[in-house]
Amino acid sequence: PADAQRDDAGRLTIGGVDVETLAAEHGTPLYVLSEADFRRRARQYRESFAAAFAPHAEVDVFYAGKAFLSTHAARWAAEEGLCVDTASGGELAVALAAGVDPARLGLHGNNKSDAEILRALRAGVGRIIADSLEELERIEQLAAAEATTAPVMLRLTPGVHASTHEYIATAHEDQKFGLSLTPPDGVPGEDGTADGASDNASGDVAAHRGSAAWTAVERALAGEHIELRGLHCHIGSQIFEPEGFELAATRLIGLLGAVRAAHGVELAELDLGGGHGIAYTEADAPRHPAQIAEALAATVVSACARHELAVPRISIEPGRSIVGPAGVTLYRVGVQKDVQVDLDDGSTAARRYVAVDGGMSDNARGVLYDADYSAVLADRKVVGEHALSRIVGKHCESGDIVVRDVYLPTTTARDDLLAVPATGAYCHSLSSNYNLLTRPAVVSVADGRSQVLIRRETEEQMLGRDTGYSS
Ligand code: LLP
Repeated sequence: PADAQRDDAGRLTIGGVDVETLAAEHGTPLYVLSEADFRRRARQYRESFAAAFAPHAEVDVFYAGKAFLSTHAARWAAEEGLCVDTASGGELAVALAAGVDPARLGLHGNNKSDAEILRALRAGVGRIIADSLEELERIEQLAAAEATTAPVMLRLTPGVHASTHEYIATAHEDQKFGLSLTPPDGVPGEDGTADGASDNASGDVAAHRGSAAWTAVERALAGEHIELRGLHCHIGSQIFEPEGFELAATRLIGLLGAVRAAHGVELAELDLGGGHGIAYTEADAPRHPAQIAEALAATVVSACARHELAVPRISIEPGRSIVGPAGVTLYRVGVQKDVQVDLDDGSTAARRYVAVDGGMSDNARGVLYDADYSAVLADRKVVGEHALSRIVGKHCESGDIVVRDVYLPTTTARDDLLAVPATGAYCHSLSSNYNLLTRPAVVSVADGRSQVLIRRETEEQMLGRDTGYSS
């Protein structure tokens, strides 16, 4: 976080609170979130997107709660003028419990239950993002039964290959999300890739008719209990280059043009999803939100002009890029082990394995996506020699790696505190009880004070689910 620094004793402080105090008070592993950093990034998004799209369109920034959600975080987002995007009944429940205006909530998911859809309809959420034709029809039936109208966005698959890990790329054709823009006899996209996306950046009705997206738009327009607000896409996550977002936007605007040509309707909204990359290690070079905003605004405004469309109201859904850099995980060092490693050139080197008191249960991203992180010694000044180290967890898997390669002081010792930055997104939300570890607390810091956002799970709570257990 921007408000992390070393105090005179060399201890890491975040938001004016020293991490040793936090660790002593709340135990480790511990997720620490800088409230100021979260709020600053939220504000940066709102301001830079508003500025880039002015005077053509207004922008709603939806904080993607899947990255990290608690009632406090939802309130921070709302107080900074953001809407909140939820992806399940549980996330919706947290956002509602936080008191976020339901009209400023969205509900996502590729397999929403009837109960989730009903909950959204009854709460009056601002938009339900339909992921399939079947779901669109179910939303309409449920809205009819409730004697209401469902505000709907359609999630489309624009056929863009995002350069990121396969499991977090979501807009190529062969995956589970969204409605394809490609008609059955689709031709390669205008960028020349033969990834199956038709040349649907064109506003030609013929280039769209027959696609799943086209069918869904027509179905939604005809639906008595559906108010079709617009189109949505999310091409993937942890993406640095804006080109993929721009290409997706161009293709969606092509469909907007074709819809106008065929039906005389201009859809009001266009959501360009989230997925903006952050720096996990020094190798990553993220863009400032303003750069992404300007690139997108230029593309959207000119594509709309080509199709003689008014620029629709724009929305985006960043999660990781708001909360990720705001978070740090604290661990205590336990066992250390020096291992000889064979290098490719036939020589050997030493690697120190530094085991900490958490691991893949509080940060599954290494195992899931080969994600890498960095780490620093947090409880004292870093002096002297450094050794090539690998920070590993305490789980019974050799893939349980938190930081693959980091130079830590050779004096690193048992009970030292390590801080792993950029863990605000998708660490707590993907956490588990693997090996029956209790899940860590989440604490926020600001102006020299800390507050618990999520309590540390107790063994009682964890074992309380076991019907044969009595305390
Ligand atoms: N909108 C939609 C529809 C999404 O599916 C996602 C993420 C987002 C927005 C927010 O994306 P972000 O700005 O946070 O990248 N667990 C993975 C990431 C999965 C992302 C799923 N969808 C990870 O830890 O990298």
